[in-house]
Amino acid sequence: MRIVNREAAVKVGEEIELKGWVAARRDHGKLIFIDLRDRSGLIQLVFTPAIPDYDKAQNLRLEWVLGVKGLVSERPAAMVNSEIETGRIEVQVKSFEIISEAKTPPFAVDTDGRDVGEDIRMKYRYLDLRRKRMADNIRNRNKIIRYMRDYLAKKDFVEIETPIISKSTPEGARDYLVPSRVYPGKFYALPQSPQQYKQLLMVAGFERYFQIARCFRDEDSRGDRQPEFTQLDIEMSFVEEREVMDLAEELYLKLVADLYPEKKVKLDENGRIPVMTYKEAMEKYQSDKPDIRDNKDDPNELAFLFVVDFPAFEWKETEKRWDAVHHPFTQPNVKDVAEFKEIFSKDPGLMTAKQYDFVLNGYEIGGGSIRIHDPKLLQAVFEAMGNKPEVVQERFGHMLEAFEYGVPPHGGIAPGIDRFVMIMQNEPNIREVIAFPKTGDGRDLLMEAPSEVDQSQLDELGLEIKKRK
Ligand code: AMO
Repeated sequence: MRIVNREAAVKVGEEIELKGWVAARRDHGKLIFIDLRDRSGLIQLVFTPAIPDYDKAQNLRLEWVLGVKGLVSERPAAMVNSEIETGRIEVQVKSFEIISEAKTPPFAVDTDGRDVGEDIRMKYRYLDLRRKRMADNIRNRNKIIRYMRDYLAKKDFVEIETPIISKSTPEGARDYLVPSRVYPGKFYALPQSPQQYKQLLMVAGFERYFQIARCFRDEDSRGDRQPEFTQLDIEMSFVEEREVMDLAEELYLKLVADLYPEKKVKLDENGRIPVMTYKEAMEKYQSDKPDIRDNKDDPNELAFLFVVDFPAFEWKETEKRWDAVHHPFTQPNVKDVAEFKEIFSKDPGLMTAKQYDFVLNGYEIGGGSIRIHDPKLLQAVFEAMGNKPEVVQERFGHMLEAFEYGVPPHGGIAPGIDRFVMIMQNEPNIREVIAFPKTGDGRDLLMEAPSEVDQSQLDELGLEIKKRK
């Protein structure tokens, strides 16, 4: 039975079977040394002329897939390699099988790959992911997500999947649209976040929801932005701002201590994540996501921060209207509709909201708010943002109606997972921590997406492509 390379380290004197990829080959006279790579790491194989098929061993090339049977033996002291887990041993091959051959890879996979062009790495992502740096990023991402899941499950949160093909929900970006075949001319939208569904789950009485949620936003990619990305989406009932922040704080501090013990977290004098108002952040740092690290060159320093008391609305010059700074479901700091209307009619810019941003090393790693649960206030906010009452009914009538059926006060937060993993892994952009990311211009070079579709598919959907002038 096959074991993995790491397990061989404690099997000196035993015959074992291994399977994996040729990661390196060195010839010393008639001896052939192969580093075999599998999911657990590297191991050194030794092929001598005494084995059957020795002539075939001479053909072995990088990235071929092998099965070998052999004897685990200790390496001579001078040959011990302390860099790898199996560095004290090697395997004297008795027999082997070539499982599959490989073309010469377009780039080396035994380096960190930082000097390889990104387009070629993306086109051959399945090879790029063989390099240790990338495999570690993806595995540690998985550890982080599993930690989040376990933590929230222990705190009585229910993980619930919400729809991907649904209706537009406002988060301030363009929607990805999916044409309906059954209802030609009608479209689903991919969610920019599960915002409305998670609020409806509070109306449904779950009280504590989370989801490792894929979000879709048709906006230009940047180092810290992808058109599809993942949030740790959380919503809670009967909570105030501080309780949501406390939950995020405890989760992230525990996670860092358990998974990244080498990192130092900068905390305030009470051992807590510092909290700063938006106003203070802008005055002191001219940024709503200040980087408050003492030494920005120290890869192990982490400085979390909560920024609170954001303005509720900002003026959008292009659309000549006031827009929600976070999203329209966020509770402004007013006691009722009358007070809201009064302040809004005077100076909307003065109103603050129950919104908090979660910041790490100068990146916005999460955002959330306490929500409006009074349907009349929600209606007033939508109208204040320039929506006609009938448009509000058409787009958000379901929310207003749901809030008529016994709604708990609720709020939540959605930390972005990609950005957090990027910072923890000391990577310069989120593409390095996503298995199959899009390029800066929104393409998937491996699958060659986006792509054209057959005329018959367009016909079925009732679509016609206009030529760009
Ligand atoms: P918001 O829009 O602030 O809030 O998003 C929350 C967090 O998601 C991450 N994020 C992104 N990560 C990668 N690529 C992107 N294009 C991208 N856009 C956002 C960021 C950000 O802080 N529904 C609300 C949350 C809530 O109110 O509970 C929301 O989506 O880390």
